[in-house]
Amino acid sequence: MVCKKEDLKLVTLGFNKISSVQKLQKSCEDKVWEKESLIHLLKEGGGIGFILSEGFTVIGYILARSLQSELEILSFGVLSSYRRMGLGSILFKEIEKFIIINKKSQLILEVNNHNDKAKNFYKSMGLEEIKVLSGYYKTDNGPEDGLLMSKFYF
Ligand SMILES: CC(C)(COP(=O)(O)OP(=O)(O)OC[C@H]1O[C@@H](n2cnc3c(N)ncnc32)[C@H](O)[C@@H]1OP(=O)(O)O)[C@@H](O)C(=O)NCCC(=O)NCCS
Repeated sequence: MVCKKEDLKLVTLGFNKISSVQKLQKSCEDKVWEKESLIHLLKEGGGIGFILSEGFTVIGYILARSLQSELEILSFGVLSSYRRMGLGSILFKEIEKFIIINKKSQLILEVNNHNDKAKNFYKSMGLEEIKVLSGYYKTDNGPEDGLLMSKFYF
């Protein structure tokens, strides 16, 4: 897959893109959020997100929640055929811009402790491992550990 930077479009996640997020969550084998939960998050849950497209193809998303002094990444993915091309970094850096503009001091997230690709991605973005969360995820294969990761902004 070849992807030219000038063909990419990054937009803020609005209500009109909720079904795109659900499709991407499914394709990325992430938990698919209910439409109502996504609406609630965006309306009154401090939700913020971005969507990346190439032409008419929606190829990546990032969804986060703005807390008091923190921002939590809730769901994030890039279509598998578009990975390792710097697109996840584009989405992540947009969230970092939001953190800096809104003077947040910390980014936090939970990732499946077996998800080495995502862990490597987050480490490459400067996050550190904080704590293993025993049995945090309920999966078809039984409970799996989560990992709390974090980055500080000064
Ligand atoms: C995590 C994810 C969003 C990264 O997206 P991406 O577009 O591939 O990321 P980038 O191309 O910007 O990668 C930036 C850096 O992260 C690291 N990285 C990314 N994917 C990696 C992998 N599979 N193995 C090792 N390192 C990886 C590398 O350091 C990479 O830089 P490099 O390609 O120059 O070596 C993507 O793998 C994905 O959608 N995974 C499935 C969903 C998921 O796990 N989401 C996170 C849930 S918390």
